[in-house]
Amino acid sequence: MTNAKQAAGRRAAELVEDGMTVGLGTGSTVFFTLQRLAERIRDEGISLRGVPTSLDTESKAREFGIPLATLDEVERIALTIDGADEIDGDYQMIKGGGGALLREKVVATISDRVVTVVGRDKLVERLGTTFLLPVEVVPFARATVRRAIKALGGEPTVRLAEPERPFVTDNGNQILDCKFEGGIADARALAARLSTEPGVVEHGLFIDLATDVVIGDDTGTAELRSK
Ligand code: 5RP
Repeated sequence: MTNAKQAAGRRAAELVEDGMTVGLGTGSTVFFTLQRLAERIRDEGISLRGVPTSLDTESKAREFGIPLATLDEVERIALTIDGADEIDGDYQMIKGGGGALLREKVVATISDRVVTVVGRDKLVERLGTTFLLPVEVVPFARATVRRAIKALGGEPTVRLAEPERPFVTDNGNQILDCKFEGGIADARALAARLSTEPGVVEHGLFIDLATDVVIGDDTGTAELRSK
């Protein structure tokens, strides 16, 4: 699996052109993108500025010597490279396994191109069949949002950092990981419904955001597919 992630992550880094503003996603696949970008900065002398989607990516990018910018300084992003937990044939995704869904979605939304880097195991026919849907909630509203998700047919569980201690996002919120038996029948409709629920900060359904996918496999090769 590391091979697949490495192949996808590194291949996507080749899409970055000199002078670009690049959204830097979060996760173990994007780690290899960061690594390759650092090599290209060093070996080819390309210049870029990265917009990190999490504190974790920010600190890794700094260690790699990748120049960073904040959203105060950036209006549009040419290219974002990010991972996914599931992606279907229409490039709709579930994200948020690393808890960075809010910042990832903000960055993807202002990006001209969103390249998703995955191993082949992340390709699904229907979202929600192999991965729970993360929903970021304001702690105050956790109980009300849980009830609302149950009414929509989901089974929410509070994500824990340790036994008895909820996971806390970079934004100070919590995550409900939601199981939908048999998968999510209508991801677009569920996304729209969740977005209207008070207390939901963001959800992990990324609808119409990905433009490309780089699929790595265990032999170490990667294939780029574009919409
Ligand atoms: C973090 C994410 C990640 O992109 C997703 O979890 C994939 O991670 P990995 O590349 O480690 O499998 O959405 O919030």
